[in-house]
Amino acid sequence: MSDLNVNTFKARRAEIVKRMDKNSVLLISSAKLVSRNNDTTFPFRQDSNFYYCTGFQEPDSVMLLHSNGHSTLFCRQKNPELEKWDGFMWGPEAAKDFFGFDEAYDINNINDVLPELIRGNETLYALVGKNLDFDSKITNWINSANSMERHQGNIDLKNFSNILGSMRLVKDDEEISLIRKSCEIAAISHRNVMQNVEVGMSEYDLECMYLNEFKINGSREASYTPIVAGGARACILHYINNNQQIKDGELVLVDAGCEYGMYASDITRTFPINGKFSAEQKAVYDVVLAAHNAACDAAKIGAPCTNPQKTSEKVLSQGLLDIGFLKGSLDEVLEKQLFREFYYHKIGHWMGLDVHDDCPYSLDAEEIKFEKGMVMTIEPGIYVNETAEVDNKWKGIGIRIENDILITDDGFENLTSKVPVEIDDIENLMNS
Ligand code: GLY
Ligand code: MN
Ligand code: MN
Repeated sequence: MSDLNVNTFKARRAEIVKRMDKNSVLLISSAKLVSRNNDTTFPFRQDSNFYYCTGFQEPDSVMLLHSNGHSTLFCRQKNPELEKWDGFMWGPEAAKDFFGFDEAYDINNINDVLPELIRGNETLYALVGKNLDFDSKITNWINSANSMERHQGNIDLKNFSNILGSMRLVKDDEEISLIRKSCEIAAISHRNVMQNVEVGMSEYDLECMYLNEFKINGSREASYTPIVAGGARACILHYINNNQQIKDGELVLVDAGCEYGMYASDITRTFPINGKFSAEQKAVYDVVLAAHNAACDAAKIGAPCTNPQKTSEKVLSQGLLDIGFLKGSLDEVLEKQLFREFYYHKIGHWMGLDVHDDCPYSLDAEEIKFEKGMVMTIEPGIYVNETAEVDNKWKGIGIRIENDILITDDGFENLTSKVPVEIDDIENLMNS
């Protein structure tokens, strides 16, 4: 468990204020408690943007920040009867003091209070489009506020997503240490499971082992539903059924990461369930590994964030030509994107509070350039579907290698390097 430093969130709000126009307000909503089915809910997971700004971990909450620095929290009223069922609730007064807000109100009064607080401002910023229910509430509050100020200009609604997303792109030291820990737990978990798998196990057995490892190593939750795909199921990118037997001789692709202190990790390894790669599996694996290594090297300060993508396309396409999956020249393969038959996703994504971090890849039509403190996944793959025009011996091979890298002064640091990635190292670990 990580300790919460409320000053971090106050400092973030101060930084946000610097990015707001004069006479403006910003509204961000918490996540909702989501029903699973009758009378049961999924575990509560706070909205990452709301958490980033507040550190507050309750549903039914709203943050209002004014460009003059004044901050307001709306949250649930304390309710001792409800607390007997659902646990501790801060209540506005205690939440205001602990989390460093200037004012706090009962969320039940928001429709009366909020229009009064926003009236007369020129701009209302929101994360437009992320939560349609909240967008519609915002519209109503703006209408209400405008109707109170008939002789003044209307409040302009502006999207704050790119501004907040840009702040979240560069991680501070506290965030990096949480991401580092999340990556370490996930890496140790991958190692431990790889060492203990056996022929005869099902995808479900492995899923269970990963989730158990996350928990015993200090992470309560996975950062997404693990993908445990034996054999040809590895070619289905979002395979999460995880309910089939893994056959002797098959590879298993496991894409599993955890959450620590709200920060994600995201690792994929592909390994033979019997501990020994076949010649065909090795040949494809080596191409993916070469693309992975080259893509990591392409991530450095000042380079456009699409560099790893372009590099992976080149190296992987050359590999597909060498192996005989594609014919023609490298230029033709790249120009016609022929590699897409085997590599049909992108090289990676930003990672942080969200496994696919809610941050931009380009701004004002210009690609984001790598800066120190950014975190990205690098995850090339090759997937040989039944429809591919290749010899049958290759069909059903699906391989992805995924690591999480931090941009540093002199290149990158692989935060998930504790799980082996070379074929020899994987076989040695699995047979040790
Ligand atoms: N685990 C989801 C992804 O790799 O993007
Ligand atoms: Mn992944
Ligand atoms: Mn990923």
